[in-house]
Amino acid sequence: MNRRLGVLISGRGSNLQAIIDAIASGSLRASIAIVISNRSDAAGLQRAEAAGIETLVLRPKEFADRGAYDRAIAQELKKRDIAVVCLAGYMRLIGQPLLDTFPNRILNIHPSLLPAFPGLDAQQQALAHGVRVAGATVHLVNEELDGGAIIAQASVAVLPDDTVQTLSARILEQEHRLYPNAIETILNGGWTVEGRRFLSSVMPPPAEV
Ligand code: GAR
Repeated sequence: MNRRLGVLISGRGSNLQAIIDAIASGSLRASIAIVISNRSDAAGLQRAEAAGIETLVLRPKEFADRGAYDRAIAQELKKRDIAVVCLAGYMRLIGQPLLDTFPNRILNIHPSLLPAFPGLDAQQQALAHGVRVAGATVHLVNEELDGGAIIAQASVAVLPDDTVQTLSARILEQEHRLYPNAIETILNGGWTVEGRRFLSSVMPPPAEV
């Protein structure tokens, strides 16, 4: 596997920034060949441009259907010989054309300890449920929403006076640490997926707070 990444974003792009920074510091041995956004107003596009990374905006409305949209993304990624696709705040479901093009090669970061609280507003869901421990998960993407094999997780205590904002900020800090490490694990190989389990000869260090 080469070490070329494609990153898909929809917004702020702080996880994209964490990946850019980890590459710059040498802790993640990879390069980002392209950043693709489904929204032209995604602030993450500027972060990519500032780092000299090629960007591309593909607007879903300009495609006949979801299949056509995902095929276009797959084609752009393949053209650039991408090994691993990283979803970084990419707020769309990944369809079969992309899954088939990159089997077990698409990663996502989600702001909860999956399988708890998949989908939108995970931090709000965690607060509303009253859990004492929240966190972040990096997982392989499959056809289920936030459903693929778990590569790495980090936990965060929920404090009595937490709001969605304060909890999200503490989770985000963990996301920024967790995601580059998980990408490095994937690129280093020596792992398999058995059933739901991600098995690696070099497991990422346990991430607990
Ligand atoms: C992050 O908290 C990420 O975990 C979440 O969106 C935020 C994006 O922030 N992703 C999801 O909820 C995906 N289901 P960012 O654009 O600053 O990286």
